[in-house]
Amino acid sequence: MKLILLGPPGAGKGTQAKMLTEVFQIPQISTGDILRAAVKDGTAMGIKAKEYMDAGGLVPDEVVVGIVRDRLQADDCGNGFILDGFPRTVAQADALQLSLQKMKKELDRVISLDVDAEALVERLTGRRTCKECGRSYHVQFDPLSQEGVCDACGGALFQRDDDQEETIRKRLQVYADQTSPLIKYYRDSGLLIELDGMQPITLVQEKMLSLLQAS
Ligand code: AP5
Ligand code: MG
Ligand code: ZN
Repeated sequence: MKLILLGPPGAGKGTQAKMLTEVFQIPQISTGDILRAAVKDGTAMGIKAKEYMDAGGLVPDEVVVGIVRDRLQADDCGNGFILDGFPRTVAQADALQLSLQKMKKELDRVISLDVDAEALVERLTGRRTCKECGRSYHVQFDPLSQEGVCDACGGALFQRDDDQEETIRKRLQVYADQTSPLIKYYRDSGLLIELDGMQPITLVQEKMLSLLQAS
């Protein structure tokens, strides 16, 4: 299964990707997670990327395209992968297409999660993320059994630097301007499945699985 999860910040890409990795035994490739790891490690790429991320903008295409191109070569992508947060521009989508062609692989599906702007702000301001495994929780919609400790791995939780209301609104605008054209891009290529992301997490999950299993 070779999938893209498309959707605005807070749509539930990461939440649903974690479920799909377990069901299909394929890796989640989150460019956001990879970039945050580089920021944490203080690499040259991380230091540069942090400026764009803190401002709610996009990291330059050539940086993320290079990251994904390398990541797709890894052995664990043999049975497929879930791209979460990539591509985010038409240039990235074209570059992905080229990389896959060279590897003689084809995308199976692109799932677009649709969620209202105000719900997104509420989701992101209440999000808590695990430092170790990257799983997201929500103070109200997906609470922890024990405060401050990840249910999945026992790791400590933190609030992302870009989950401040002002930065969230900038990220939503960047999505509308630069990423939303990909909905038409993948609709035109016949790969798009549009899914209502406003329902509770478990319902979105059930619907996603049944759509994937039917296609
Ligand atoms: P990235 O980390 O990809 O952030 P994002 O796209 O803004 O998306 P989020 O991770 O914020 O949202 P999500 O859809 O994963 O939601 P989640 O499942 O956590 O990117 C960060 C930055 O890195 C970018 O701004 C950019 O600078 C850079 N970057 C990354 N990729 C790039 C690229 N390709 N090109 C250039 N730059 C790039 O859920 C959110 C919250 O809602 C959680 O608390 C969750 O518990 C809750 N929730 C989830 N589903 C539901 C539901 N159905 N109902 C109620 N609550 C829910
Ligand atoms: Mg995410
Ligand atoms: Zn964890």
